[in-house]
Amino acid sequence: MALLHVTDLHAGYGPVQVLHGIELAVDPGARLALIGRNGVGKTTLLKALMGLADVSRGTVSFDGRSLDRTGPGQRAHAGLGYVPQTRDIFPSLSVEENLIAGLKGRSVRCVQEAYELFPRLAERSRNAGHQLSGGEQQMLSVARTLLGQPRLLLLDEPLEGLAPIICQELMGAFTRLAESTGVAVVLVEQKVEAALRFAEHAIVLEHGAVVHREDSHSLSQRPDVLERYVGVSGAH
Ligand SMILES: Nc1ncnc2c1ncn2[C@@H]1O[C@H](COP(=O)(O)OP(=O)(O)O)[C@@H](O)[C@H]1O
Ligand SMILES: [Mg+2]
Repeated sequence: MALLHVTDLHAGYGPVQVLHGIELAVDPGARLALIGRNGVGKTTLLKALMGLADVSRGTVSFDGRSLDRTGPGQRAHAGLGYVPQTRDIFPSLSVEENLIAGLKGRSVRCVQEAYELFPRLAERSRNAGHQLSGGEQQMLSVARTLLGQPRLLLLDEPLEGLAPIICQELMGAFTRLAESTGVAVVLVEQKVEAALRFAEHAIVLEHGAVVHREDSHSLSQRPDVLERYVGVSGAH
C-alpha cells in the first residue's frame, strides 16, 4: 500500500486556484522527483500535502488515513517532514539549539544522529544559525526535520543557490539517509540532473497539473521532454 496517496487534488490560496487534479502515490521508502518550471505549483503541492494551502477538492491520505481535516502540526506528528524552500532555521540560536528544537520530545542525545549524517554540523555546533554558509543552513534545516523521524520527507529546492561541490555533498547525504533510514522522499528541484539521479520516479508539473510521469533514469535520457517542460536538456 502506498504511504502517500493523493487523488484529484485541487488547491491554492483563497480564491487563487493553483493545482488542478493532481494524482500521485509514494510507496514507503520510495524517492520521487517533482520537477517543472518556476511558478507551476511545486511548492504549492508540498504545502497542500502539509496542510498549508487551501484544498478545494480531492484527498490526501497518509498511511491509509485521510489527512483532510488534519492541521500541519498533526501531519508532522503523523510522520510528514517538510523542509521549506526558505530554510527556516532560527538564526540567533546555535546549531545545537536548532537541532534540539527538532527533537519533538526525543532525548537530547539524539542530536548525535544529525552530526553523524552531517559531520560539518558537529564542527559548527556552537555557531549561530546566521553564521552558517547556505549549504550548512540547508543541512541544518534537513537535519532538524529528520530528528522528528518522519516517514516521508518533503524537500523544496534544497540545492537552490548552492555551489556545485556543496550540491554534491548534500545529494550524497540525502542518498545515504534515504538508504539508511528508509524514509520516503519527495524532492522538488530545479537542478534536474541531480534530482533524477537521486529519485526512482519523476513527475513533471505544468500549470498546476501533472503533464508527464516516468521512471527517473529513462526520463534523464529524454532531452525532448526535459527541454519542453523544464527548459533544460538533461545532461548538465
Ligand atoms: N501565497 C500565495 N498567494 C497567492 N498565490 C500564490 C501564493 N504563493 C504562490 N502563489 C502562486 O501560485 C503559483 C504557483 O507557485 P509555486 O507553487 O510557488 O510554484 P513553484 O514552486 O513551482 O515555483 C504561482 O503562480 C504563484 O504566483
Ligand atoms: Mg517553489
